[in-house]
Amino acid sequence: MIPAAGSGTRLGAGTPKAFVELGGRTILERCVEGVGAAGLVDVVVVAVPEELVDHTAALLPDVRVVVGGAERSHSVRAALTEIGDADVVLVHDAARTLTPPAVFGRVVDAVRAGAPAVVPALPVADTLKRVDDGGRVISTVDRGPLRAVQTPQGFAVEALRAAYRGSTVATDDAGLAELAGYPVQVVAGDALAFKITTAFDLRLAELLLGAMTG
Ligand code: C5P
Repeated sequence: MIPAAGSGTRLGAGTPKAFVELGGRTILERCVEGVGAAGLVDVVVVAVPEELVDHTAALLPDVRVVVGGAERSHSVRAALTEIGDADVVLVHDAARTLTPPAVFGRVVDAVRAGAPAVVPALPVADTLKRVDDGGRVISTVDRGPLRAVQTPQGFAVEALRAAYRGSTVATDDAGLAELAGYPVQVVAGDALAFKITTAFDLRLAELLLGAMTG
């Protein structure tokens, strides 16, 4: 499932983020292509803004298209209605367009090995500080056990369905699985799975794409 219904306010391109062009094709097209390149996925469901449903269906004839919601979790919930009888489900941000196939492989392998919820993640490189409203440092956080979590996040389908029966207040799907009482397993992420959020990220993605395609 690819939630792609974000407005892209922080990117500031004037177009919903997944429909912004990256090297001549939309972020969403490149994301769907990346999912296909992993060779592990039978059905792709994309959640997009309502006004872009027809456009997306024409652009990507092989994917199922649903109307996304106001929050990312609403978009995922909408996509969940279209996954059919899948037993392993991946939820992958459209905005993590350059995610290498190996990351998909690690996530799927861990779910198939029995983990109900799996996230790719990286150690945190920066020093992290907790600050108050006035910008004063309260403490320095031990970054050793911290991880920055990416997508695709993988689930046994019953775990994701259970996660979405409860609260949907979390910034990722594994957070909902946690709230529903499931253990969440971490596998190695990849720097290329970064999320295109700002204009800087889009520029970085363009440069990386140029370097990768020669
Ligand atoms: O906003 P953020 O960058 O966290 O969004 C992560 C992913 O979730 C993006 O691919 C975005 O399109 C998607 N999203 C969505 N529906 C929303 C908000 C975000 O599908 N309401």
